[in-house]
Amino acid sequence: MKELKSYLSQYENPRILDIGTGKGDFIAMIDYVYQDYSEIIGIDIVDYLLEMDESAFENNPKIKWMDLDVLETTFPKNSFDIISLSNTLHHIKDIKSMFNQMVEMLKPGGIIILSELISSNDLSEKQISHQLLHSFAAKIDHELNKVHSQIFSKENVMQAIEMYSPLPVDAIWELETKSFDEEITLEDLYRLVDGLLKNVKDSPKFEQYKEEAIAIKDYLQENGFSYATTICVVLKKQ
Ligand SMILES: C[S@@+](CC[C@H](N)C(=O)[O-])C[C@H]1O[C@@H](n2cnc3c(N)ncnc32)[C@H](O)[C@@H]1O
Repeated sequence: MKELKSYLSQYENPRILDIGTGKGDFIAMIDYVYQDYSEIIGIDIVDYLLEMDESAFENNPKIKWMDLDVLETTFPKNSFDIISLSNTLHHIKDIKSMFNQMVEMLKPGGIIILSELISSNDLSEKQISHQLLHSFAAKIDHELNKVHSQIFSKENVMQAIEMYSPLPVDAIWELETKSFDEEITLEDLYRLVDGLLKNVKDSPKFEQYKEEAIAIKDYLQENGFSYATTICVVLKKQ
């Protein structure tokens, strides 16, 4: 994570917006490598995730949560030094408008950190846990009529940036998450699976989802968890 730290520490007390924050995993990652930010605001449209973890940072008054669609934000122009978008690109209906919105909210000299889990045929057993969790979440969201594609390839991510980002790429690297993986407990992951399952409790396919959830939990218990391959792309506003 030295690249992430090196980018974050270029800014003095940066104000950060985390889009599609979910239960705040990327905020936790930022806070793990760099604490000298003035504020991090996490926004998301899915309140079940926000609800699940709104207590996670309750002792940190610099972190705030908002139930907000990135396409409907009303933050003034040039509000943030850093905008992060982690594992969210494949959830967005209108990628072009989202990029335009992000660029408006970004201060000159500011950066967008886009990190995205990518498909790979070369995963360890622990990393397969991440992929299993992802495809379960995508399936549940699909049942709930939410936009959630299966994992993008690296080419898909780079094509989306090339087509829609008004800002040039400043750097790209593979995110090293080894030390961060150790912070995630089996209970955290079980809670995530249970939270997803709860959302389809009224579905006629609930029993099927429940069986899948049990199989995923068994796999997690047996194999542990590690993030699958994730790329980080930095886009810089001049
Ligand atoms: C896979 S989660 C990513 C969570 C976290 N950032 C991470 O890296 O693990 C993607 C999130 O994007 C959110 N999302 C999708 N469309 C959005 C939008 N238009 N505005 C804000 N959040 C959105 C979803 O609700 C979901 O919680």
